[in-house]
Amino acid sequence: MRNLTILAFVTLAACVETDEPTGAEDYATFCAACHGPSGKGDGPAAAGLDKRPADLTRLSMRNGGVFPGTTVMAKIWGYTGLTPGAGDGGSPMPQFGPLLQGELVPYDGSDGIATPTPVRLVQLAEHLRSLQGR
Ligand code: HEC
Repeated sequence: MRNLTILAFVTLAACVETDEPTGAEDYATFCAACHGPSGKGDGPAAAGLDKRPADLTRLSMRNGGVFPGTTVMAKIWGYTGLTPGAGDGGSPMPQFGPLLQGELVPYDGSDGIATPTPVRLVQLAEHLRSLQGR
């Protein structure tokens, strides 16, 4: 009986571990150091950068009140293939390989075109959407 209990516990732990992190969790892990816990661009690593991390709570405001889902996705997906700081534009944003793993889901940033997109990037974009106007 005791063994069964342990087995059940181990199985449960394994399930929890393989669950995808939420957008908020991925944001805390990969983005908050520069963009700040609330997205205002005031993370602890911001001070050491040449470019100021964008205030991610004002993306909609700066886009006429509409969340710029497509450009946000281009930014967070596009740069993952770039060497940080190298060549075109030299964004200091690093690569986030883990975010590209997992299933692809249709993502329509607002331009009416649904592009198969790694689910964790979609969750992240939705998290950024939820930060608007905070
Ligand atoms: C090493 C610091 C750093 C990290 C980590 C980082 N960023 Fe950035 N980010 C920047 C800087 C600096 C800019 C402004 C310059 C630029 O656009 O490249 C920026 C710009 C952006 C923009 C463009 C905003 C605009 O004005 O259009 C978005 C969106 C963004 N970051 C999202 C994210 C997300 C989501 C993550 C986590 C997956 C992340 N960033 C992680 C430094 C960082």
